[in-house]
Amino acid sequence: DRDRPLRGARLVVSAGPTREALDPVRFISNRSSGKMGYALAAAAARAGAQVTLVSGPVALPTPPGLERIDVETAADMHAAVMALMGEADIYIGAAAVADYRPSEIAPVKLKKGRGASVIALTQNPDIVADVAALKPKPFVVGFAAETDDLENYARGKLIAKNLDMIAANWIGREDGGFDSDRNALQVYWPGGAASLAMTEKSALAEQLITLIAEHFHAKNST
Ligand code: PMT
Repeated sequence: DRDRPLRGARLVVSAGPTREALDPVRFISNRSSGKMGYALAAAAARAGAQVTLVSGPVALPTPPGLERIDVETAADMHAAVMALMGEADIYIGAAAVADYRPSEIAPVKLKKGRGASVIALTQNPDIVADVAALKPKPFVVGFAAETDDLENYARGKLIAKNLDMIAANWIGREDGGFDSDRNALQVYWPGGAASLAMTEKSALAEQLITLIAEHFHAKNST
């Protein structure tokens, strides 16, 4: 089925940032808008997949034809994703998950001028690595957001996290990456690579979904 290359596949995508609370009103987060993950979820649904979108806090409408689960913290996202993995054929980790959370959440609003001005941090679980450690594991696609040495870091994450594919993007440049409507991706898998040029995230997502479908079917037929 050329138009619907993921027909029948059960696919989970994570998107957006996570928020890690400091106190009832403050949090640590990042610049992810969710646009890349939402574009992938929409493209996967158009390709015939049964899509669940696990979303951090973003200001985007839910694309048609898919289920959306809203989460806030990395721990929430980890729990929501892992609970879906018994039923999933493909996992795409497009979320910008906070690597660390404040070690303590103050129960009341922190006041200035009192006590320590240092925030102690605790490492969060790595969702995409935990998914890729499952047996049997779904086809796992990670992202890599890099400001330098993109190929080395991306290939390092591909191997360290035991991923089937990784889509790497430059961040902190004029065009593409966080929040922009456009992006470009260098895609790596064991033994190969592809370059997807700068374009709208919707068009880029269609190209990446086509590539994922090819590799997913190739892996399942061996
Ligand atoms: O949301 P947009 O504004 O559209 O921006 C898109 C994007 C730049 C956020 C997106 O294209 C992207 O690169 N997402 C991954 C961002 C990121 O956290 O990259 P990383 O290199 O730090 O993480 C590598 C991989 O591990 C990612 O698949 C990430 O989802 C995953 N991860 C990281 C930490 C963690 N605790 N759990 C994870 O699963």
